[in-house]
Amino acid sequence: MIIILNNKCNFSYNEFINYQEELRSIEEDNRLVLCPPNIYLSAFNLENFDLGCQNVDKNTCGPYTGNISASQLRSLNVKYTIVNHSERRKYCNENLLDTAIKIKELMENDIIPILCIGETLEERKQNKTESIIVTQLSEVSRQLTPEEMKKIIIAYEPIWAIGTGIIPSPEEVEKVSQLINKYLPNNKIIYGGSVDEKNIENFKQIKLLDGFLLGGLSLYPERLKKFLIKIEKDK
Ligand code: PGA
Repeated sequence: MIIILNNKCNFSYNEFINYQEELRSIEEDNRLVLCPPNIYLSAFNLENFDLGCQNVDKNTCGPYTGNISASQLRSLNVKYTIVNHSERRKYCNENLLDTAIKIKELMENDIIPILCIGETLEERKQNKTESIIVTQLSEVSRQLTPEEMKKIIIAYEPIWAIGTGIIPSPEEVEKVSQLINKYLPNNKIIYGGSVDEKNIENFKQIKLLDGFLLGGLSLYPERLKKFLIKIEKDK
């Protein structure tokens, strides 16, 4: 399993340093990836985690004030980067074409992209979930070679489940995972959206899931440890 911690825009510098110390004691067989706020990337110094990033610029280095390029991430040993997160789409107007360009930049720098896809509540209510998922995947895959596409981790994140405490049923997640697997049989699939140490039981039976993307839970090391114990038990 791969467990991605997305800290989003949280922690002061000192809080982050203390938080990182709390993560240091975690012993895990699963692959753990920490995506800290960008500004603390170079303060990362854990051996039990890989370093991930929450976003990347679509441009290579140059006159792009305030941006961070894939080659700069690579120079800090970043191994994974989240792209197309719904918060970036909502607040920064990013689209799937930007995402495909970012994915190419990441791959040129040997960084594994974590591609977030998912439907809004409105789309789910209108029974459009499957068509939205297929459209999102096909818009990205149209810009990439099949070889490039294979290397991406697909994170199914229903937008209505992110940060809301509301989760889809295991059947709903399974259905979408099967759809993704049909479209991309070789890719790792993870789920994100209000996963915590209490509701993890709901997701464990879903065979196609290779891991989880944790937002809110990532901020609380003690709860995170409980979550990891629960995953470990039934491996
Ligand atoms: P959440 O965030 O776990 O707080 O819902 C997940 C995400 O946005 O990736």
